[in-house]
Amino acid sequence: MTGRFISFEGIDGSGKSTQSRRLADSLRSQGHNPLLTREPGGSAGAEDIRALLVSGDPDRWSPETEILLFTAARRDHLERTIAPALTAGRDVITDRFADSTRVYQGTTRGDLRGLVDALHAQVIGTEPDLTLIIDMDPAEALRRGLARDSGEDRFEDFGLDFQMRLRAGFLALAEEYPERCVVIDGTRDADSVAADVLQTLVKRH
Ligand code: ADP
Ligand code: TYD
Repeated sequence: MTGRFISFEGIDGSGKSTQSRRLADSLRSQGHNPLLTREPGGSAGAEDIRALLVSGDPDRWSPETEILLFTAARRDHLERTIAPALTAGRDVITDRFADSTRVYQGTTRGDLRGLVDALHAQVIGTEPDLTLIIDMDPAEALRRGLARDSGEDRFEDFGLDFQMRLRAGFLALAEEYPERCVVIDGTRDADSVAADVLQTLVKRH
């Protein structure tokens, strides 16, 4: 018996962490014991790598170096956090997974989807059962994201045009993997989005 593996994806500030938390709360209130986690991060080593990735100048790392760092972090996260929880029968909810590398590094930062896919096949080899893509207008999401002033704004600092290309990348990904990806309209209030997420989970799994 393994748990369900659920990922949230989307542009920066679209509401992924809010909705991951809300889904974990709902599952808990139904008597489940979900594991809520995030990328980059989710294990001690991956959190160390996160610190290298999310702060500093936008040009601190090349897209190729980013792919290696994000994939290293993901491997550690998978080995130490995700796989043990799924094996123990727990649902795992992750705020971002491999689709973020496909879209950010594979198609938006560079034209490197081949490298992303090759590395993924070699060292990750796992996809979520369900991926919820929270879709919204990048201008609004950017305002929400920067309003947090978290000090982790390296990717937000690439600007609005970058976020618009990311949005298109996530929508294209939903078409590429229709069996596991569902696009959720994130412009609504958080309660409505959360209700949509729960309904989708019931329908799909
Ligand atoms: P992400 O994890 O995608 O970057 P967050 O969940 O952290 O997004 O949300 C970014 C900001 O927008 C936070 O300040 C959050 O409180 C706010 N927010 C999240 N969802 C909504 C919503 N549906 N409507 C308005 N504000 C929201
Ligand atoms: P996150 O903390 O989810 O940012 P946000 O809350 O702003 O959405 O992720 C940090 C940044 O790392 C985010 O801008 C997206 C980027 N990222 C990649 O570029 N590639 C990846 O594989 C992952 C997991 C994240």
